[in-house]
Amino acid sequence: MSDKRLARLLPIARWPTADEAARLRWFSPVRLGPLELAARTWIPAMVPWRATDDGFVTPEVLGWYRRFAEGRPGAIVVEATGIRDVPSGPLLRIGHDRFVEGLARLAREVKDASGGATRLFIQLIDFLAIKRRVEPERFFRRFLVIDDALRARFPGLDDDAIREDLTLRADDALLDPRQRESLRMGYRERVTDVHLPHVRDLPRTLPPLFADAAARAKEAGFDGVELHYAHAYTMASFLSRLNTRADGYGGPREHRVRLPLEVHAAVRARVGDGYCVGARLLGDEVVEGGSRVDDATYFAVRFAEAGIDFLSVSKGGKFEDAKPPKVGEAAYPYTGPSGHECMPHVKIDARGPFGRNVPLAAAVRRAVRDAGHDTPVVAAGGIASPWQAEAILEAGDADLVAAARQSLCDPDWFEKIRLGRGDEVRRCFFTNYCEALDQAHKEVTCQRWDREALDDASMRSRDGKRRLIAPPWRG
Ligand SMILES: Cc1cc2nc3c(=O)[nH]c(=O)nc-3n(C[C@H](O)[C@H](O)[C@H](O)COP(=O)(O)O)c2cc1C
Ligand code: SF4
Repeated sequence: MSDKRLARLLPIARWPTADEAARLRWFSPVRLGPLELAARTWIPAMVPWRATDDGFVTPEVLGWYRRFAEGRPGAIVVEATGIRDVPSGPLLRIGHDRFVEGLARLAREVKDASGGATRLFIQLIDFLAIKRRVEPERFFRRFLVIDDALRARFPGLDDDAIREDLTLRADDALLDPRQRESLRMGYRERVTDVHLPHVRDLPRTLPPLFADAAARAKEAGFDGVELHYAHAYTMASFLSRLNTRADGYGGPREHRVRLPLEVHAAVRARVGDGYCVGARLLGDEVVEGGSRVDDATYFAVRFAEAGIDFLSVSKGGKFEDAKPPKVGEAAYPYTGPSGHECMPHVKIDARGPFGRNVPLAAAVRRAVRDAGHDTPVVAAGGIASPWQAEAILEAGDADLVAAARQSLCDPDWFEKIRLGRGDEVRRCFFTNYCEALDQAHKEVTCQRWDREALDDASMRSRDGKRRLIAPPWRG
């Protein structure tokens, strides 16, 4: 490994011995509502782009989760999975009963590979429409809606003539900010687009969609569900300070939290108290005018009051500050400053990526405890060492400590640590090769796996060049 990369790893002077590992809080049990986890080690949701184009589980999806389960973490959260029965590309889906069979296979695979040690959650997501950016000419000719404001700027011209004029100018000066954004970024729906009936009706349509999806997760044998209330998607957009809906579901915090609470209530009513239901939310949206940690603590207390079983805290990952995509591509919410906070790169800034988002989880946990609730809180973001996890748990900053990219890089790392063989851990460089693949909707893999022989042809990426699962560990 190059000296430069070594220098940027989180220093670990010494790995725990097996005896020390046995005493680590990270490997101690914890209760999440009705569910007991054998350890506080947690693999948060990561989309690997391995489902079919119709959203079904494939052998590659099974292989991906089996490999994580072999490391026997306390819990794995299956990637963001769409709750609607609509085409969504190769995103896993749970919006119809026909998906249950494949998901049940996935649940069995994880139980099997972990010897029953790992609890399995599935992250339930809803998202609004987002279109690819198009060439300016195509935008003006086909996609731009000629509205009264534009008509007023071209007195005497009909809509076709206005369109022609704008196309010839190829200039955005006459567009309003939203139209200009659609030209630069591609069109994107917002929860505030209440002129669109399906957006206006979200408070009515979403609770049963989430409830049905949760019921399918239960039927498929998952131990619980994680409601995706984070990042760039519908539910986080309801929680956002940028949500100005005037129908009782936007504006002040009490209104913004209403739909997420109603979704939780609908899910709970469907799956019962004996089933584990948690949520992932943002400790800070990081974008201008967005929610901050004081919003997050308020929401967390409201969720805790409502009887949610765990709260997983993330940060950023928004469309509002994303980079303009290339023509032909859609915006990706992890390309701007908020996205960088969500999956911090090793060179993010002088502070580095390690444990960077823990203070948000700590603030959420403190607020929930101060309000008299014992709802467990999951922290994530740049966790790469057992000592770091121990310090977080010891300080009471979180109850569970998640590691996404380090677990992707080496799914056996929990087992290696447990066995006192931490020096065999393949350490994550936090350089985000995996995230770039996610952005391109290509099968997510790790740059560090490809150094090992491509011995199993059935587990290669479509281009044949990359391993689809981590190399085996001959423990
Ligand atoms: C390839 C990839 C896909 C991800 N997909 C999801 C997702 O589906 N849902 C989610 O809440 N977070 C997702 N994340 C964010 C991670 O769960 C995690 O919060 C983030 O990577 C920071 O943790 P880490 O520093 O341990 O990687 C993804 C991250 C990566 C690298
Ligand atoms: S590609 Fe591998 S080493 Fe690089 S950030 Fe992702 S998990 Fe870590």
